[in-house]
Order: sequence, then structure tokens, then C-alpha cells
Amino acid sequence: MKLTLKIWRQKNANDKGKMVEYKLDHVSEDMSFLEMLDVLNEELLHKGEQPVAFDHDCREGICGMCSLYINGHPHGPLQTTTCQLHMRSFKDGETIYIEPWRAKAFPVVKDLVVNRSAFDRIIQAGGYVSVNTGVTVDANEIPVPRETADLAMDAAQCIGCGACVASCKNASAMLFVSAKVSQLALLPQGKAERKKRVEKMVAKMDEEGFGSCTNTGACEAECPKGISLSNIARMNREYFVAKLSSNNL
Ligand code: FES
Repeated sequence: MKLTLKIWRQKNANDKGKMVEYKLDHVSEDMSFLEMLDVLNEELLHKGEQPVAFDHDCREGICGMCSLYINGHPHGPLQTTTCQLHMRSFKDGETIYIEPWRAKAFPVVKDLVVNRSAFDRIIQAGGYVSVNTGVTVDANEIPVPRETADLAMDAAQCIGCGACVASCKNASAMLFVSAKVSQLALLPQGKAERKKRVEKMVAKMDEEGFGSCTNTGACEAECPKGISLSNIARMNREYFVAKLSSNNL
């Protein structure tokens, strides 16, 4: 395949940045998108030019690092992570636009790399269980209905890639935060701190500069793990109940 790549290049956080065009021949349709960028970087290094900086780690759809905005979609045309996207999803001769996530809370570090530590700070605000749950007990000692366990596991699939923020016109992080709130609030071990947790995580989300949710549903449509909007409804209920009982409305 022959491709024209238009890639966002930005030297550092203070640089204005611009789209730069590159031509690439001999791209195999069996390459992953990141392998195609590896080939481009080898060519750039060979020519003595700066390689394109982009994030990646597991390359197995697990870590959520490979955050690229491809042809106007987070992670490209398929509902998967960029590392699991293959070049057979593109046509020979196609022009592909590659940009970083665009959100005030995710400042660009270099080229296609953004700083997503705002997500880490939201988790640090309350996305964990801190009560002592004692020694490991037999699973059957804490009966959890199958449907509830499935809902918690579905929410726990969120890999924190930030595609929900990048796809949202308001740069809202509600899908991410609600998945993290849900996975804990649904299970017995997470219930003890559920009120304190949701209040702290929502407050941190607002403080980090993410926008509000206006129910456009773009986040669910673009999420590579199919996290459901129903998690946002659950988080809103959790938040309302927490505020009511803390008389803080
Ligand atoms: S590199 Fe880990 S999910 Fe893509």
C-alpha cells in the first residue's frame, strides 16, 4: 500500500505545532497502525530527521496508552485501540490524518503524546478500596448476583485511554469516571466508601478542567472497550444520594 500521512508535529508544550505530510510506500495491510508508524520513524531516523513521538506500551489493547486521533476518530475507524487497528482498514493511496487527543485537561507533551495524568489524579482522589476487608474469604461467602458481577466486570474493562474525552465536544471525562465509580460501587467491598468516593472523584474531575456531560453519546460510540452510558446514569445516582446524605446539595 502507498499512503500519505498528515501528522501533527509539535516540539514541546509551548510550540504552536503544525500538520506535516509524509509519504510511505510498501505498507503491508497486515501491519498494525503502530507498526506502520515504526516504519515511518525508521525512515525519518535514516534521513537524520526527528522521529514522530507517540505513546504505546502493551500493544495488546490492555494498557490504553496508544491514544491517537485518526481521521477524526479516537483510535481510528474501528471501535478498538490504535494498537489493535490494522492497515487493512485503510485503502491503498489513502491520506490519513493523525493527531493527538484534543482536550484542555490533556496538554500535548510532544507530537502525538499527551499528558493524561489528570486521570491518575482522579483515581488517587478515591478510585480504590481503603477499608480493611480482612483475609481472603471463600468466594461463596460473599454472594454477588451474577447480573451485578457482570455489570461490575463490564465497567472494569475501562483501560483509561481517554478516547471518551477526545470524542466528546465538551471534553467530558464522565464515561471514564463513571466506569471507575461503578466497578467499585456495585461490589460489596466497594460499598463502604461509595459516598465519599463519588464525591471526591467528581470534585477532582471538575477541578482538572474536564467539561460537563450533555448526553451526546459520542463517548460510548468511540470507546474501544464498549463502556456503557448507563454507568454515567449510575454515577449520577450515586452522587445525588451522597450529596443528599451529606446535606451538601
Ligand atoms: S498500546 Fe496498550 S492498549 Fe494500545
